[in-house]
Amino acid sequence: MHSVLILYSTVDGLTLKICRRLEQIAAGAGHRVILADIQDHATFDASLFDTVVVGASIRYGHHRPIVAKYMRFNRAILQARRCAFFTVNIVARKPAKNSPATNPYMRRFLKGIGWRPSQLAVFAGKLDYPRYDFWDRNIIRFIMLLTRGPTDPKAVVEFTDWEQVDAFGRAISAD
Ligand SMILES: Cc1cc2nc3c(=O)[nH]c(=O)nc-3n(C[C@H](O)[C@H](O)[C@H](O)COP(=O)(O)O)c2cc1C
Repeated sequence: MHSVLILYSTVDGLTLKICRRLEQIAAGAGHRVILADIQDHATFDASLFDTVVVGASIRYGHHRPIVAKYMRFNRAILQARRCAFFTVNIVARKPAKNSPATNPYMRRFLKGIGWRPSQLAVFAGKLDYPRYDFWDRNIIRFIMLLTRGPTDPKAVVEFTDWEQVDAFGRAISAD
């Protein structure tokens, strides 16, 4: 048994849903798991955990600033243990942009923090037009028009590959 800290940064809840799945898999493997919003990271001492997982979604080209700050500030602690990072974004629905090596947000994030966590993943996100306000809905629709994605204002599409999430969950849960 080992201990796992999972920290998430989400706006519409998909990253949290992915983290809950990872939590389930790690707990199922017999590990002790704590799941928390990265904004509450100060409540949990990462050095008390064997594994730290950080997951964050993209909004208008960026993860929340706190995500990179956390990874930079805690570099020594995180590098001394198993550390996994994953990003969630809609660009990753494209096969050519869904790996750590090819996803532009992952690449920029790693460059920005200046080190590489031991496990990385890129998950395709969700479009939920009815949930967005007028401006967000239409800006995203326009981007989708340009990149050949769904533009129906009623569309709700989850592009996430849950098999891939499960495989990542097993990887972070392995001994
Ligand atoms: C206002 C808004 C802006 C977004 N900007 C981007 C973006 O710049 N690039 C991208 O790939 N996905 C973008 N997305 C898609 C989100 O990353 C995707 O919906 C993801 O599932 C959100 O995860 P969350 O629910 O955990 O916040 C955006 C979504 C919204 C609603």
